[in-house]
Amino acid sequence: MSRITPRPFLKWVGGKGQLLNKLIERTPPRFGAYHEPFLGGGAFYFALQRMGRIREAHLADLNWELIDTFRSVRDQPDQILARLETFRHTETFFYDMRRKNPRRMKPVNRAARMIFLNKTCFNGLYRVNQKGKFNVPFGRFKNPKYRDPDNLLAVSEALNPAKLHNASFHSVMDRAKAGDFVYFDPPYVPVSDTANFTCYQAKGFTYIDQIMLRDVARQLSERGVYVMLSNSAAPLVRELYGDNFILTEIKARRNVNRDASKRGKVGEYLITNYPVGSLTFS
Ligand SMILES: C[S@@+](CC[C@H](N)C(=O)[O-])C[C@H]1O[C@@H](n2cnc3c(N)ncnc32)[C@H](O)[C@@H]1O
Repeated sequence: MSRITPRPFLKWVGGKGQLLNKLIERTPPRFGAYHEPFLGGGAFYFALQRMGRIREAHLADLNWELIDTFRSVRDQPDQILARLETFRHTETFFYDMRRKNPRRMKPVNRAARMIFLNKTCFNGLYRVNQKGKFNVPFGRFKNPKYRDPDNLLAVSEALNPAKLHNASFHSVMDRAKAGDFVYFDPPYVPVSDTANFTCYQAKGFTYIDQIMLRDVARQLSERGVYVMLSNSAAPLVRELYGDNFILTEIKARRNVNRDASKRGKVGEYLITNYPVGSLTFS
């Protein structure tokens, strides 16, 4: 058993680090399997694992490379660490690695590449362009910790009970049963330009996706599944969930905005289909 508590091994946009306590407070005292259909960095899963709350888990994300990396970390952490040992923190090495096509790499090498680029790139965030190519420039970190054996081994162990799915959020309907717990952390409804968002079909998570997600949440709720969901405190979110769910507004510090003046506290909703106060531990 690893003595280290697992922390996310990738930095991900929308990472839930500072909201963890609020999520934990609202976690049902007892549940069957845990489902997280928008996995990202997986901060909440690792927190629940640390607390011994996970027996069975289904973690999913539409990003194939992310899920593939999670699988390799679960199954072959030593091999990834051995690969990372051969890597060098130089600009030339970074761009050589960035240029590689992950689809043509072996899973272990691909996972090592993803971890390395995530930890050494500008702002330490993973982002791909419309062609699916990682396009973030070299970051100016002095000593990035891309090889962290203690944490990677702890994470690998924590992922042991998890089934990993490269699938859209709809697929949770095929898996979740009464008494299970589902936490959704989707790409958020934009706070500033919601009116525009509703009529514009950009790439990415659209207005229609937000409506389909609400419908999935409702159907799970009817099935007797505990549902918790995060989204921005936008009027559209209140409109979508206000009738059937309980909304609590919380403030979260977000640092992903490129414009430093726009970083700061942004309101967001934590949405549940169960009244939190009524959940008693027994
Ligand atoms: C806000 S992030 C999740 C953050 C994560 N919970 C954490 O703590 O780091 C949203 C994730 O949803 C994924 N995603 C986008 N559209 C999706 C879809 N239709 N189905 C499933 N996942 C999707 C993205 O790849 C991204 O990893």
